Amino acid sequence: APRVQSGIGELDRVLGGGIVQGGVVLLGGDPGIGKSTLLMQLVVALAKVDRSVLYVTGEESANQVALRARRIGDSPAVMLLATTSLSDVLTALDAAVYDLVVIDSIQTIRSDELESASGSVSQLREVASVLTEHAKRSGVALFLIGHVTKDGAIAGPKVLEHLVDTVLSFEGDSSQAYRVVRAEKNRFGPSHEVGVFEMVEQGLREVPDPSRMFLSQRPQGAAGSAVVASAEGQRPLLAEIQALVAPAQYGSPRRVATGLDANRLAVLLAVLHRKVGVQVLDQDVFASAAGGVRIDEPAVDLAVCAAVVSSLRDLPVPRDLVTFGEVGLAGELRAVTKPAARLKEAAKMGFARVVLPRQNASKLTKQECAGLEVIAAATVEDALSQIF
Ligand code: TYD
Ligand code: MG
Repeated sequence: APRVQSGIGELDRVLGGGIVQGGVVLLGGDPGIGKSTLLMQLVVALAKVDRSVLYVTGEESANQVALRARRIGDSPAVMLLATTSLSDVLTALDAAVYDLVVIDSIQTIRSDELESASGSVSQLREVASVLTEHAKRSGVALFLIGHVTKDGAIAGPKVLEHLVDTVLSFEGDSSQAYRVVRAEKNRFGPSHEVGVFEMVEQGLREVPDPSRMFLSQRPQGAAGSAVVASAEGQRPLLAEIQALVAPAQYGSPRRVATGLDANRLAVLLAVLHRKVGVQVLDQDVFASAAGGVRIDEPAVDLAVCAAVVSSLRDLPVPRDLVTFGEVGLAGELRAVTKPAARLKEAAKMGFARVVLPRQNASKLTKQECAGLEVIAAATVEDALSQIF
């Protein structure tokens, strides 16, 4: 499919190399995370290279959108349509040929054909399918902004996700500056790809070196912190995993995971208990990927175990040591994908040692070790004894 580069490298990366003509992208995220800002920047970037673009706002007035655009910086003329009516949008789409159209947001646009209120599932399905059909027919690239409900699903549950080609989610802690755009689904490229941005006064700025940012607030010599060499999509990403273990006060102990899979945390604690003899069953355990980043992949398991044991024993993980590896139910350390890319990133970030699954280590060439001391472990117990 022919693609247009937006010039926003981190966004092109998540899209799988640029915007696809006739492609429909759904961008979901919490209110205030920066969805409107990102897509206004996209529209402005394309307008600057003489692409014809239209920004439809059903949420904010034309004035508010203009204010945001000015805040972002110099902007060429951009076509703006303030409406909540689907037929207005279709009229505009028929009146001119656009390369890119942004709908902000899909929940605010309403079809008169249906009785139900805007934002209802039937409205969402109708509006999204009519617009998607138009995109396929005309070749316009369509970006739909979608709000996310409290439980994290793009509102109108899975209805929209099936209709569109690409689903991007915009994540991050709105109290922090950085934001991660993640491809949850992509018909035109790899999924799980991430782009990293920082929210500054003039909008979103690309972060070409996210590992540095995610590690920037790492505490010195503190117990309960371990660094994982993760790989999201094609990109290696180092992140700090923190754990706090404290005796449970009442009833069943609490397990709280932030930015990590809560079920996975429970499994890891059971493995630590049964296979390594770490006494955590009567302890509250809080674990998080520091700074609000979300880490989905199993390679984070070993770092979670290391952080938990570090907190429990009040022993810091050596500062120059990084880990990765999936932990199996038998306590074995299982190989993960892209070991060489993880090592390379760790070396770049100044780490000296890596503890990793033996199955990964045995296949690495000397060059792939990137000058790191490679410590192979067959089990989580073995790995923990090498770390501490
Ligand atoms: P916005 O794009 O409106 O979020 P969404 O569309 O996802 O609801 O941006 C939300 C926040 O970003 C808002 O609180 C203000 C902040 N912001 C900046 O810090 N700098 C900027 O240049 C802009 C435009 C917004
Ligand atoms: Mg918005």
